Amino acid sequence: MTPRRAVVTGASSGIGEATARRLGRDGWHVILVARRADRLEALARELPSSDVLALDLTADEAPAQVAEHVGEKLDLLVNNAGAAWRAEFGDAENGGYENVRRTMEINFDAVLRLTEKLLPAVRAAAPGSAIVNVASIAGRVARPQVGAYSASKFALVGWTESLHLEERAHGVHVGLVQPGFVSTEGFPQEQLTGSAKTRWIVSTPEKVAEAIMAAAGGKAEVSVPRPYAALPKLKALVPGLFRRVTS
Ligand SMILES: NC(=O)c1ccc[n+]([C@@H]2O[C@H](COP(=O)([O-])OP(=O)(O)OC[C@H]3O[C@@H](n4cnc5c(N)ncnc54)[C@H](OP(=O)(O)O)[C@@H]3O)[C@@H](O)[C@H]2O)c1
Repeated sequence: MTPRRAVVTGASSGIGEATARRLGRDGWHVILVARRADRLEALARELPSSDVLALDLTADEAPAQVAEHVGEKLDLLVNNAGAAWRAEFGDAENGGYENVRRTMEINFDAVLRLTEKLLPAVRAAAPGSAIVNVASIAGRVARPQVGAYSASKFALVGWTESLHLEERAHGVHVGLVQPGFVSTEGFPQEQLTGSAKTRWIVSTPEKVAEAIMAAAGGKAEVSVPRPYAALPKLKALVPGLFRRVTS
């Protein structure tokens, strides 16, 4: 039997790498996408069946390159690649519009551009095919210094909710994963892992990979760890208290 085929973006580290390994264990053929070719090739050597596509997802030609590689049918697209640069909006050197622009470019625009190009192949594999977008709890709840990141993830959440409803008619499931704090290269969470009081709230890439599998399998929305799903509800119920705590 031909293995099911998945594209995983941001597979060179953290959540994407853990997801590629998880899919590999289940017998999937995984198309690994990120910029660092050496990291992707090292991972590919450990997986039973995979291809490496080393490219910058923000480049004009990237979506067409991935689509050409994928061909006519794709069972799963995991839009996971992302980045964050912490800065207050008023920080003239690191913040402002330029920080929002570069964050949106990878966390939002690149996801839409790739999905647009791959959607025909995902539809061609329906029913049973899926798109999973990795957003964040920061796409529901904002904190200081991560305004650019939150803006990109709020946008991704809104668009994903709409795509979920639209693609039903085409037999494509669209799932959303919202991680909280997860210790990875891009998001080391040192402030939290450094203290026994806060270490427990930091999750692992492997747990997010399980959530991605659940979202690929039909869940509309999964938060990791699960109790984080309560945060947006608390924000709606007691907004004043919530603002005091998060500030
Ligand atoms: N860790 C957390 O606490 C946390 C919480 C909520 C949500 N998330 C989300 O989870 C996703 C994965 O993050 P992570 O924690 O696993 O971080 P990570 O270890 O830094 O992984 C980010 C991945 O994205 C890839 N990437 C970044 N820019 C790219 C570009 N321009 N083109 C292609 N690939 C690019 C990186 O690969 P290259 O550098 O090789 O290109 C890397 O593989 C992100 O969307 C992030 O926003 C993370």
